[in-house]
Amino acid sequence: MTAHARVAAAPANVGRLRGFVTSFAELVDTTRDERTIRESGAALLARLVKQDDWLPSAFAQASYTRYRQYLLHCDSRERFSVVSFVWGPGQSTPIHDHRIWGLVGVLRGAETVERFDRNPKGRLVARDTLTLRPGDVDAFGPAIGDVHRVANAYRSRTSVSIHVYGANIGAVERATFDDDGTPKRFVSGYANTELPNL
Ligand code: FE2
Repeated sequence: MTAHARVAAAPANVGRLRGFVTSFAELVDTTRDERTIRESGAALLARLVKQDDWLPSAFAQASYTRYRQYLLHCDSRERFSVVSFVWGPGQSTPIHDHRIWGLVGVLRGAETVERFDRNPKGRLVARDTLTLRPGDVDAFGPAIGDVHRVANAYRSRTSVSIHVYGANIGAVERATFDDDGTPKRFVSGYANTELPNL
């Protein structure tokens, strides 16, 4: 070995993701109640994103043109999916809906979430804006509102968040909205074709 030998990066502790997936599958085995899944699932996700040593680097690569969504796991019955969102500096989603429950937990950096409600005429109205930091989790769903716009809170660095959804989100037909509220059909898809080895 020379003085300039490279030291390999420590392998990702992917067992944490495996444990999370196992616990989430047990949760959806016991209930289909949206509120219970959101509340118990948020606690599981908060535990996962409290440690930043488990996400393989292949699923944390930013693109400088658009934010990326990497599928980490999809339940075999599509009861839930787990996705890493990787945000290049200043990147953001359009305003969009989900039509299912979901959870967002920040692993690295910080994320801004603008939440919207629908008024009685069906128009979107801004509710509030949250800044999520590592370890923080936000929940959404049909029962509590499922329309938001999410962005990297940083203009100079990458952020990574872990999202969990009550379906195979990359295949769900839903909508983005222009600033005037006009909906457009949208299916999000995934950036990757291979999954982490759990
Ligand atoms: Fe979203």
